[in-house]
Order: sequence, then C-alpha cells, then structure tokens
Amino acid sequence: MINVLKKNESFLRVNDFMCIISIEKIIFLYNMRAIIYTTYGPPEVAKLMQVAKPAAKADEVLIKVYASTVNRTDCGFRSAQYFISRFWSGLLRPKYQTLGCEFAGEIEEVGVTCSIYKKGDRVFGYNDEMFGGHAEYIVIKENDAITLIPQNISYTDAAPICEGAHYALSIINAAKVKPAQQVMVYGATGAIGSAAVQLLKYFGATVVAVCNTKNVSMVKSLGADTVIDYQTQDVVKTCHRFDFIFDAVGKLSFGKCKKLLVSNGIYISTELGKYSSNVFLSLVTPMFKGKKVMFPLPSMNKDTIELLSKLVAQGAYRPVIDRIYKPEDIVEAYKYVETGEKIGNVVLQVRE
Ligand SMILES: NC(=O)c1ccc[n+]([C@@H]2O[C@H](COP(=O)([O-])OP(=O)(O)OC[C@H]3O[C@@H](n4cnc5c(N)ncnc54)[C@H](OP(=O)(O)O)[C@@H]3O)[C@@H](O)[C@H]2O)c1
Repeated sequence: MINVLKKNESFLRVNDFMCIISIEKIIFLYNMRAIIYTTYGPPEVAKLMQVAKPAAKADEVLIKVYASTVNRTDCGFRSAQYFISRFWSGLLRPKYQTLGCEFAGEIEEVGVTCSIYKKGDRVFGYNDEMFGGHAEYIVIKENDAITLIPQNISYTDAAPICEGAHYALSIINAAKVKPAQQVMVYGATGAIGSAAVQLLKYFGATVVAVCNTKNVSMVKSLGADTVIDYQTQDVVKTCHRFDFIFDAVGKLSFGKCKKLLVSNGIYISTELGKYSSNVFLSLVTPMFKGKKVMFPLPSMNKDTIELLSKLVAQGAYRPVIDRIYKPEDIVEAYKYVETGEKIGNVVLQVRE
C-alpha cells in the first residue's frame, strides 16, 4: 500500500513536472510579438500574434527591434497587387510571413563568425527579400544592408531612412544626374519624393518640386529651389525645361512630360504606367537618339546603407515622418498608407 502511494506520489510529481516543462516550452516557443500574414490580401490579413523568437545563425545578428515602418513595399507584397511579386514572396502564399522591410533596434546577439557588430550596438537596416521588421526580433546576415545608427538619431527616426531613399538613389544614379542639372520631382511629398529632393540637392542639381498646396512649405524646407503647387498650376504648362523628370508617384507619363524635357532628357517613373508602358518605353526609346524613358531596378547593399547613414549624420538627408502607429493598429496603418496620401513615412513603434 505504501509502495503504491509512493508510486502515485512520484507519478503525480512526474506529471506536475511534465506540466511545468510543457508550459515553459510553450513560453519558450511563443516568446515574441509579430505581425503575421498567412495569405495575400487586404490590410485585415495582417494579425498581431505571439510567435517564436528567431535565433541567429553563425553569420547573423539578432536585433531587438524598436521601430519599423509600414510602407508601399510592404503593401505591395502583402496585397500581391502585382502578381509578379509572388515570384519572390511565394506563388500561393507568403514564404516569409512577417513584413516590415525597414527596422531599427539594438543588437542582442551575434553569431559565432560575426565580427562587425557587438551586443548593444544601435543599428538600422533594410531587407525586402525576407522582411521581418514587424516583429520584436529580427535576424539578418551582418554583411547585409544594416549599419550603425548615427549619433543623436532615435530608433523612430532611423527606421524610415532606407525605403524611399534607396528607390530615389537607384533612380538618380540611373539618370546619372550631374551638378547644376535641372530636375523635376513630381510627388515630392511621398517617401521616395521627399528623399529624392534631398538627395538631388546633395548631388548639386537644381530641383523643381511638385506637391499639393498644404505641403508647399514642407517641400521648401527639404531644399527644393522652386515648388509648384499642382492644385493651382498646371505642371505641364510650366516654362521650366528639365534634364530629368522624376515622377515619384507615377501620376504623369512620358507623353505628358516630353515637351518639358531638353533634347536628351530622361523620364523615370516609380510606377509601371498604363499597360506597363514605362517598361516598354524603357526598352524602345534608348534605341533612338533624344528623349528617353528608363525603368531601373532598385538595389540595396551595405554601401548604399552606409552612404545613407553618412548623409543622415551630416544632416544632408532626413526621412520625413508623417504618423506613428502601434503594432495593435497595423490594419489602420496599412489603410492609411494605401490612401496614397501619406507625407513621407509611416513608422511602426514596435516597442517603447
Ligand atoms: N509596389 C511596390 O512595391 C512599391 C514600392 C514603393 C513605392 N511604390 C510606388 O512608388 C510611388 C511612391 O511611393 P511613396 O511611398 O513614396 O509615396 P506615396 O505614399 O505613394 O505618395 C504619397 C504622396 O503622393 C502625393 N500625391 C498623391 N497623388 C498625387 C498627384 N495626383 N499628384 C501629385 N502628387 C500626388 C501626395 O502628396 P500631395 O499631398 O502633395 O498630393 C502624397 O504625399 C507610389 O506610386 C507607389 O505605389 C511601389
């Protein structure tokens, strides 16, 4: 009898112990908050959940994320509005289920072969292949597009440095903009446009920026030489002539802009254009002398992010911030970004 009781006791203890183990296992497995989307679709497919914290491989760093952004790149991949994006993100469903291509945070762990960063470093970065910034932790190869946050820049200000600026930089580089060239930035208030105005000024161009009445003073503050208010002036009737027209919201067309370009002027849009005309024209127009359309693909690497970091440190570029949302409000954040009326960037404050 005693033996049986003893047996039962230890059996119960083993059960209690197993119970404790399982709860710990659950806590261990579901130990960070992340915004997950398991299917392509409208903003509502994004859900805040508890998931497993990632672990850094030998060549990776684990970053404790403080801030990220909700941007047009995230929207494009989440909605799969252009089917072509699925060739990168998964044909039937998303391969990587947490979006957020931009992030800023603190290094929490470094992989055994890492040598650039150490625990506690403040970094920001960009990853539009695996994304992952809409989570409390992210892992990334230390040689990918991450770098130290310049001094006196907060996580909130660091998170939006890359998305708009890397598109702008790729386009400016493709157009081979030289000092004193005349450039129009149409849509100078978006993430791309507001970065483009500042980067073009850094490269010495003369910038005519186009925006809505309410944003004229903000766009002037970015350094634009002339600001055209598209609500009171028809841009196509301006007397300015341009070496390069940067359509940063895809609302113009080569046809409309042709007469505003000098004889070898360049038109580049951030959008494909009607019936993907910008892609077609970028293949055809360079075959002839004269005005042409280009459709460069954006690129981002360590050199690009280090250049952007240097420009931020020098005060030559600062990302414009419109609104800050909390992870709980991700659906509202997406809806706002998709109005196409955000001014600069929308930040996601991942943690306080
Ligand atoms: N599919 C993708 O992965 C992807 C990724 C990044 C960007 N993009 C494209 O790149 C473009 C720019 O993106 P973004 O994030 O920089 O900015 P955005 O959010 O698309 O642009 C917002 C700005 O566009 C301006 N705007 C809206 N309608 C306008 C019009 N008719 N004329 C002039 N300006 C107008 C608004 O300024 P005002 O208040 O002054 O009008 C607003 O500040 C978008 O077309 C976007 O779709 C696509």
